[in-house]
Amino acid sequence: MSLSQKAESIASEFVLSDDDVRKCSKQFIFELGEGLKHVVPTVCQIPTYVTKVARGTEKGVSLAVDLGGTNLRVCSVELKGDTKWTAKHAKRVIPPETMTGSNGAELFHLIAHEIDQFFQLHHRDTLQKLRQSKDVLPLGFTFSYPAYQTSINSGILLRWTKGFDIPDVINKDVCQLLQVAIDDFNLPVEVTALVNDALGALMFRAYTLPLSQTRTSVGAIFGTGTNGVYLEKLSNITKALGTHDDSTGEMFISSEWGSFDNGLLVQPNTKYDMKVDQSSINPGNQMFEKRVSGMFQGELLRVALNELYADPDACLFRGVQWDDPAQGEGPAPFFTRWAIDTSLLSIAAAENAQELTALSEALVKTLRIPANHVSADDVRAVKTIADAIGKRAARLAGMAIGSALIKGGRITVDRNILPVTRVTEDFSGVEAVDIAVDGSVVELYPGFERYMREVWRVIDGIGPAGEKMIKMGVAKDGSSIGAAIIALIVANGRASHTATP
Ligand code: BGC
Repeated sequence: MSLSQKAESIASEFVLSDDDVRKCSKQFIFELGEGLKHVVPTVCQIPTYVTKVARGTEKGVSLAVDLGGTNLRVCSVELKGDTKWTAKHAKRVIPPETMTGSNGAELFHLIAHEIDQFFQLHHRDTLQKLRQSKDVLPLGFTFSYPAYQTSINSGILLRWTKGFDIPDVINKDVCQLLQVAIDDFNLPVEVTALVNDALGALMFRAYTLPLSQTRTSVGAIFGTGTNGVYLEKLSNITKALGTHDDSTGEMFISSEWGSFDNGLLVQPNTKYDMKVDQSSINPGNQMFEKRVSGMFQGELLRVALNELYADPDACLFRGVQWDDPAQGEGPAPFFTRWAIDTSLLSIAAAENAQELTALSEALVKTLRIPANHVSADDVRAVKTIADAIGKRAARLAGMAIGSALIKGGRITVDRNILPVTRVTEDFSGVEAVDIAVDGSVVELYPGFERYMREVWRVIDGIGPAGEKMIKMGVAKDGSSIGAAIIALIVANGRASHTATP
């Protein structure tokens, strides 16, 4: 077999057929249902206590802190009430030793310190006024890890994901830890809402949509990690819920779908997936995330290429000397975990199979292989495998969004009067469903949406007519502003309750 045939053969292991998609979707909808009945460790279906979507008419000022992947962001937002807003931002990298340290207090002290610095830099006067008037600013805490909520402003951390590992914080209320740290700085700030990034993105998009447009009912992140939130009927949530507003009969649920099918009943599973899982910090967990998100796709590619390289007949990177000084200091990136970033898959997907100049240059740079050892056949082989990994991820992502739409009752096909697709949309008379997405993978991977749409067309319960009704938009970096919006809605709600006798 030639190099290209061997690459094709590896790529074929990543194929997810339409039948596989339908099987996964069935199991996905089942797991979403189970998570509404019991507190399960996998797709844990976290109640968010947010029961209304933003309308774009909200007004006021609030803050947000966003603990995402490696960055910590603080922002203040002013909502103008006409779908417009202004914001000030600050961002810093979280030191790796804090991300995996033993001391949770250190992390929360760092966050509060950033809020303090943010006030000093952008809102010194506001700080003084608030202290004098003894008022507080509401803060939305975007926390992009599974924290089980029993109210809008409390959440017990179930597990860390995406490389964070501070055991000390597990089983603790992250809002309380943040509030204590904020109070230590004597800041007039109240943690009013705990918000997953997927919900933040959704609220941001909903606020910014033209007032006449259908409100957003599903939010999804495909970045370092992955997750989705969707609007569920309260009557379907039969596990215990804390005090909540039941006026809309619905609540946003944060699925934590990164842990879908941890038991690998229906998900595709190659030997490369198994290797990546085994060398991760949480083997056996977040098994869907490990196939779909940006943290893992580059590593999957590296592991698959290592397999190809190990086959002497394939002659990948023929004649390369890994101890060549051109490789630079330290171990060769090709054999080093995480050395290939998922952005390489986007470069591969964007390239025309005939030219491949950008991919070739990226390979030389990333793997520090001298250019004369990277042949056109090598680059083509890399593209073949990279495209297969990227396409599988996008199809799985489409399966997850499509299943959430079906579970939330947003799209229902009336089988008796086929081919009519009836789309249920509660917010306005417009017949469409709106989805907010964010994250580097969905934003930057060429064809990600196209692959998702292909899946929606073949999924039971959506079909070609349903697919056309789905509108999707990137809520770029919307998770912080979305959390600030939710914090403001909560604070305004409280104020109106106290004002009403
Ligand atoms: C976390 C989710 C988060 C997602 C996207 C996952 O690893 O468990 O809470 O929403 O990443 O950031």
